[in-house]
Amino acid sequence: MSHWWEHAVVYQVYVRSFADANGDGLGDLEGLRGRLDHIAALGVDAIWMTPIYPSPQLDHGYDVADYFAIDPIHGDLAAFDRLVADANALGLRVLLDIVPNHCSREHPWFLEALAAAPGSDARARFYFRDGKADGSPPNNWRAIFGGSVWTPVGGDDPQWYLGTFTPYQPDLDHTHPDVDAMFADALRFWFDRGVDGFRVDATPPVGKTPGLPDAPPLAPGEFNPHTRFRPEGHEVWRRWRSVIDEYMATHPGRELMMVSEAYAPRRPDLMAEYVRPDEFHQCFAFDLLMSPWHGPSMRRALADAVEHVAAHGTWPTIALNNHDAQRIVTRLAHDGITSPDAWTGDNLRAAEGEVDLVVGTRRARAAAGLLLALPGSVYLYQGEELGLPEVLDLPDELRQDPVFANTGGDKKGRDGCRVPLPWTASPVGSHGFSVTEGDDVAEPWLPQPADWGRYAADTQVDDESSMLSLYRRLLAARRSHLGRSEPGTTALIDDHDDLIVLRRGDVLIVCNVGAGPVDCAAVAGRAPLLTTDPSGTRGGTVVDRDTTVWFS
Ligand code: NOJ
Repeated sequence: MSHWWEHAVVYQVYVRSFADANGDGLGDLEGLRGRLDHIAALGVDAIWMTPIYPSPQLDHGYDVADYFAIDPIHGDLAAFDRLVADANALGLRVLLDIVPNHCSREHPWFLEALAAAPGSDARARFYFRDGKADGSPPNNWRAIFGGSVWTPVGGDDPQWYLGTFTPYQPDLDHTHPDVDAMFADALRFWFDRGVDGFRVDATPPVGKTPGLPDAPPLAPGEFNPHTRFRPEGHEVWRRWRSVIDEYMATHPGRELMMVSEAYAPRRPDLMAEYVRPDEFHQCFAFDLLMSPWHGPSMRRALADAVEHVAAHGTWPTIALNNHDAQRIVTRLAHDGITSPDAWTGDNLRAAEGEVDLVVGTRRARAAAGLLLALPGSVYLYQGEELGLPEVLDLPDELRQDPVFANTGGDKKGRDGCRVPLPWTASPVGSHGFSVTEGDDVAEPWLPQPADWGRYAADTQVDDESSMLSLYRRLLAARRSHLGRSEPGTTALIDDHDDLIVLRRGDVLIVCNVGAGPVDCAAVAGRAPLLTTDPSGTRGGTVVDRDTTVWFS
């Protein structure tokens, strides 16, 4: 039996930056609903919304204060219901983002825990521990966004609490029955409201080694084995899967799924553990997103992604962009960065040096031509279909990502890929981001660059050579020419360092990442079906540099 998500293309909406219906400068559900036609016209299967729950917004929703409601900045449950209805009417499924590893420090449970005594049940829903005798924290674990994972409760309280990301995102202990029960209820609550599945945030740190021992010395890029990819975490996912399976058994016709967000650079074995048959339906493979424009690195990333999950009878799940990574147009805009280590291990890192957006844009087009030819599921991030570059020159005082503050500015963070979208060439309402009448429209939460209008959806829609037209063509060709494949059957042909060559049934896809044109007569020998070159196909079997051609 086949499932809708197996070869689905999912469009990620970073709600805060998508469209703003009430003119407060922040994206909301009504704004999204008003622009659903753009997403449907692309030809994708589903949307995934980043967290929309009540939150102090210190990590823009990834600090959840209530898993059963909508943050008033985004709307309310009635607006959510309208959105789901309209999306479904346009043929789009709806995925939510759920955050199991941590909640907000303003979640009622955490406030209760702070007020309770050491050793209390309220504290057992989190990781509260005494410090060491010398006054140092309970162990040596480091936080992902900088500093120790431990924060002292303060005052006379002898305890510290653990936050894998920041002090305002305390980790939940999933061995506590309340935690388990609350997430099971949350899944069912949103399924009852029509949601088709969840992108599950930050799965590797869920579950810790009992006793929370110190981490061993770690080489750069190595992970702390006491708080990453733990068997205790996989037990949680098996319970979640049984909630989903039970829900489907009692609600015939509903086909639900969950996708795991786990960065496991060059560890496809760890990534694949998430898609064991009783765990997730999908797990993102991020090595291609973190790969430089370099044939052997990209081929390896793809082969790893396809082969390891095929062992569990399933397909890869790949994205080239998301709200945590530098946008691809800028990421690939540096000629000559070919080291396989250029990105691996630090997806937030900005490559230094000259940015050539002409080169970056050509490569982003070629990368899209490859991505949308892949078997399995593909996730797009809002704005990649517009070819938006990373905004590199945001003034430091306007940066909001905790990564920037918590690393003392050492890492610029992720604001540059989260700048509100341009919908109209006209600058009114921040290029249509804020749908507005009158003058009382707030500035967008991050400023748009002066040339944002040239990327606007309405600038591109009738231009055959635009990124938007390319995405529409690729998605249409994916639907009409690439059928369903069995897991692991996509051939990755490995006979030229600069070419990534895929065979999908009758279609041969060739992506040239090298420095010059390559005549592919030997592998292709057929007619070009489409090219990512903005000036169209040459008609023959030559594939220019930084170009993907589909041959049929
Ligand atoms: C991964 C999310 O994608 C990211 O935006 C967030 O900051 C962390 N998880 C913490 O929840």
